[in-house]
Amino acid sequence: MISDYLNEMKEGVDKALERYLLPSDRYPQNLIKSMHYSVFAGGKRLRPILVLAAAEATNGPVKQIMPFALGVELIHTYTLIHDDLPALDNDDLRRGKPTNHRAFGEAAAILAGDALQTYAFQLMTDTKLMKEIPTEAILRAVHELSQAVGPLGTIGGQLVDLQSEGKQIDAPLLEYIHIHKTGCLIRASIRSGGILSQCTEKDLDTLTHFGENIGLAFQIIDDILDVVGDQAVIGKDSKSDIKSRKATYPALLGIEESKKRAKNLIDDGIGYLDHFDSSANHLREIALYFISRTH
Ligand code: IPE
Ligand code: IPE
Ligand code: MG
Ligand code: MG
Ligand code: MG
Repeated sequence: MISDYLNEMKEGVDKALERYLLPSDRYPQNLIKSMHYSVFAGGKRLRPILVLAAAEATNGPVKQIMPFALGVELIHTYTLIHDDLPALDNDDLRRGKPTNHRAFGEAAAILAGDALQTYAFQLMTDTKLMKEIPTEAILRAVHELSQAVGPLGTIGGQLVDLQSEGKQIDAPLLEYIHIHKTGCLIRASIRSGGILSQCTEKDLDTLTHFGENIGLAFQIIDDILDVVGDQAVIGKDSKSDIKSRKATYPALLGIEESKKRAKNLIDDGIGYLDHFDSSANHLREIALYFISRTH
């Protein structure tokens, strides 16, 4: 069952986070507490799980790259804290709790996000923690991830997302937003697993196509859940996109067409995995889970 696998992996990620994130009684306590608050508020841990599942698919070391996978989750969590700020999406609920700025104030939320991002890079470049992994592979994966979450990735996507509020934008621009704000990190998570396994370039190509497809699908499904999801289940403000007049797939295509588009992307993504044997079964199952998820 995919839910068993995801629960077990999430537990592993959570335990490792408790071990490697700074202890909550460290000074300055308000900063560290606010970092802990968002990291341990919940979260499906899908990106670190994708790093580990991609390493499994390419027959690489899995447990040994956990610090890298944690870095990916910390970066993701930082993007959520900043995404919720009044100047961006201005949301009140995240992971079933008040958003970070609601609980700690805007300044602490901005700084907790900054701190999670820099601490992520500290963890991901800790070659002592990942002794079995060649330093060159780590460097390549970190470079890849930096690109994915920088101006030509997540941040570029976030800016165009904000600029497009209240505007009628065309399909190519909407696709740009979704690929960048969300797809890039998912693609890089998957590729990192392969890079840290020192997989072949052919394997990496396969992971790239898979990652691009499911990364875009993930944000389309997020858009759909904003409309049809139950706030108590999604754990964040529902109908937030409608209130902000965001450019979304449901707004452009309607719910049914958006569902079809997401499903086609997932099916095509899984198709690429024919290149791998059963080692990629977890990647296949995660992709199917993307379609069926309710939060
Ligand atoms: C939410 O991501 C933000 C998007 C990129 C759509 P997730 O749905 O993975 O959120 P968590 O980590 O489980 O809270
Ligand atoms: C999230 O897009 C993208 C990033 C956080 C980088 P959304 O704004 O749709 O995410 P949610 O719905 O608030 O989780
Ligand atoms: Mg947003
Ligand atoms: Mg948002
Ligand atoms: Mg959303």
